[in-house]
Amino acid sequence: RIADPCVLVMFGITGDLARHKLLPAIYDLANRGLLSPSFSLVGVGRRSWSDDDLRAYVEKSAREGARTPWRPAIWEQLAAGMRFVEFASFEDDAAYDRLTAVVDDLDATRGTRGNRAFYLSIPPGWFPAVTERIARSGLVEESPEAWRRVVIEKPFGHDRASARELDELVGRIVRPDDVFRVDHYLGKETVQNILALRFANTMFEPLWNQRYVDHVQITMAEDIGIGTRAGYYDTIGSARDVIQNHLLQLLALTAMEEPTSMEAAAVRLEKEKVLNCVRLERDGVLDLDLTTARGRYDAGFQGGLPVRGYLEEDGVAADSRTETFAALRLEIANRRWAGVPFYLRAGKRLTRRVTEVAVVFKQPPFLPFESAATTAVGANTIVLRIQPDEGITLRLASKVPGTQMELRDVSMDFGYGATFNEESPEAYERLILDALLGDAPLFPHQREVDLSWRILDPVIEHWSAGGSPEGYRPGSWGPASAHELLARDGRTWRRS
Ligand code: BG6
Repeated sequence: RIADPCVLVMFGITGDLARHKLLPAIYDLANRGLLSPSFSLVGVGRRSWSDDDLRAYVEKSAREGARTPWRPAIWEQLAAGMRFVEFASFEDDAAYDRLTAVVDDLDATRGTRGNRAFYLSIPPGWFPAVTERIARSGLVEESPEAWRRVVIEKPFGHDRASARELDELVGRIVRPDDVFRVDHYLGKETVQNILALRFANTMFEPLWNQRYVDHVQITMAEDIGIGTRAGYYDTIGSARDVIQNHLLQLLALTAMEEPTSMEAAAVRLEKEKVLNCVRLERDGVLDLDLTTARGRYDAGFQGGLPVRGYLEEDGVAADSRTETFAALRLEIANRRWAGVPFYLRAGKRLTRRVTEVAVVFKQPPFLPFESAATTAVGANTIVLRIQPDEGITLRLASKVPGTQMELRDVSMDFGYGATFNEESPEAYERLILDALLGDAPLFPHQREVDLSWRILDPVIEHWSAGGSPEGYRPGSWGPASAHELLARDGRTWRRS
């Protein structure tokens, strides 16, 4: 389906996210013929740019980041609908009048029919100022013929209370169904494939429960540090940055019940149900020192090169206690998952970049082999490889060829690259298109956001009452406490 003619107003267009992800994705969508020829883009920012300056900037970012080839005719058409509106600040009332005039003019001259999406890729602290002024400007006045939508980037608040406030603010300018919260993990093919694997096959679902599953490990490891993002990251930390959203979404998709259909409301309902059952208690006892771990990378070497410690990164407060690694042990209090721990970990400057969900099965109740035959046998595991090297691995025991009955673990692999000729769209391409189409399934609902904060609020509060995060070596798998978290249960993290 092709998106309706519309104007996309982007706040934060000069930021990193827009430059690296959003603008290349818009070009790719145009190139794939998924945007209407009248699609128009209005950039809002503090620079003194002309429309041509904006075009040059978007062109550079698209040429650097787009996945599809450069096609001058497509570019010309897209560039013709670009405008820049200079804002002295987000509180600059006159700028909202200019923005209104520009959007009205695009409606009149390019046939965008009053359809408007406001993409807020700005720090949440600015939301009150921006939403209030957008409302006052009349830009989002309800219209029977046209749609008005708001697309917001995480973080969706700082905690449960501020997430609710944020939602209330956005709710003042558009209806709840017209708010699209971006969690870009949901735009990834491999994340969408979790539901396909579970519910389009017969062989996994019967085993997907506490009778057969020993535990689940969800890992999001990055080898990079925080780069130039201290301004954002130092106030946020790992738990808020990626566990509140990406990892808890992965958990929900892995653990939820089968939805009645793939429609947004049906999938959301099941995700909410399972998030509601998540507990921090370990066998009924709440002791967050035993069920959480946090760390901060030290200076050291990575890939043979010296790297700075977190505290030495530009822009990080000298007394910062922000974590760059977080791990949680969660339980899900329902019939399917009672007694099965879900271990989540995320961190920067770890051994390598890998995101995966590993479902680790129990040992067979009985092994009719000599014990020497099974020393190289671990637990059956299904690994959903979210990225890189997207695919699924099944770990199972097999007889080693030879005259002895000797067993060893082997892998069965399905890889996207080797299997499909179709190219995966970049997550942002899919999400921008869906927001313009008004398709909600890949966007978390406010209830999910709220339930995720319900889980994290006590953890973050516990950490802020404690001292500094534990240091860990760049290129390692995180702090010792993360390993202790599993060792306490007699388990170890998988070597991804
Ligand atoms: C973002 C986080 O949501 O995800 C970043 O804010 C992180 O800190 C990024 O680096 C990772 O995304 P991806 O798609 O590369 O896994």
